Amino acid sequence: MTRRYLAAFAAGLALTVSACGGEGAGSGTSGSDGAAEGDVTVGVSMPTQTSERWIADGNNVEAGLKEAGYEVELQYANDDIPTQSQQIDQMITQGVDLLIVAAIDGTALSSQLAAAKAAGIEVISYDRLIRGSGDVDFYVSFDNYNVGVQQGTSLLTGLGLLNEDGSPGTATGPFNVELFAGSLDDNNAQFFWNGAMDTIQPFIDSGQVVVKSGQTTIDQAAILRWQQETAQRRMEDLLTSAYNDGSKVDGVLSPYDGISRGIITALQNAGYGSADKPMPIITGQDAEIASVKLIVDGVQYSTIFKDTRLLAEQAVTAAEAMLDGEEPEANDTTTYDNGVKVVPAYLLESQIVTADNIVETLVDTEYYSQAEVDTGQAS
Ligand code: BGC
Repeated sequence: MTRRYLAAFAAGLALTVSACGGEGAGSGTSGSDGAAEGDVTVGVSMPTQTSERWIADGNNVEAGLKEAGYEVELQYANDDIPTQSQQIDQMITQGVDLLIVAAIDGTALSSQLAAAKAAGIEVISYDRLIRGSGDVDFYVSFDNYNVGVQQGTSLLTGLGLLNEDGSPGTATGPFNVELFAGSLDDNNAQFFWNGAMDTIQPFIDSGQVVVKSGQTTIDQAAILRWQQETAQRRMEDLLTSAYNDGSKVDGVLSPYDGISRGIITALQNAGYGSADKPMPIITGQDAEIASVKLIVDGVQYSTIFKDTRLLAEQAVTAAEAMLDGEEPEANDTTTYDNGVKVVPAYLLESQIVTADNIVETLVDTEYYSQAEVDTGQAS
């Protein structure tokens, strides 16, 4: 784990820290951990510790900020919206100089952001866009639409409808596919869905992919808070209602590894994973270690690797610029309209991971050790 948290910063981030960065109420106040007068504190609000990626994000952002010379106030909100609001309120009262927020519900933080603005505290939206507020100053994330395209593409590749180079595969179908989406209060969920459905829809139109349940809208496919158990229940319901005639599921679009594991449990309980009833092609996201092992074992087909070390590094780079009173570097100034403003963004690229490239994408980059991949457990 240490490697994963710290390696991203080995190259060294700029260490120049302006002690007078952060105007207004935040200026020159001390952090909750008793930082000395004049120290600059960054409040980091993360959604949950139930998923590995957010723990890694929190640790990586904290390590990078500390390395750059800042004090850090890091809080996790247990996937509970009031808890996150209170934690951010508290950070503002404590006088942090900048906020980095990965929202649970992207629409629920307007009053916190207004208070931050009034106190002269700038806000970086981390990974998930905060919506409905003009007080979001910058967004760091991945190209979320492309993550969806990659999920849709890997589903089609796994089914044999596409080759890896994008050319038509040898399979013709029809294949029974079921569709899952993320939590509707997370702006990313719609982007993932749009990217995936734009990729899959032509195959539904041609009849090569059949959504046997008929549940083809994001509202029907969404899983609140990205919960594994909710996904398991929905897959169980789909199997009971649409596959009680002897037909089999050939593929499942899943937007996140935790959801994929819920789907897998439901399928295994229904006898999938045997020679006459093979596991469907199942996608995912985040390259969580338990799911990487499932991919090695041929249970899950793919995941999308988003190197959270790089995202944390980008957040720290943006934070440094903003605390120095400069504009952070954006590489996208058109895509992320939050309903009130188009938020300038720095977007990173993600990668499709299958059994064929785990070593190259995850082990060679030291995201995981070979032992972690072999055991399915982070050390
Ligand atoms: C993130 C994904 C993650 C999901 C569930 C999304 O906002 O972008 O990486 O899988 O939340 O935590």
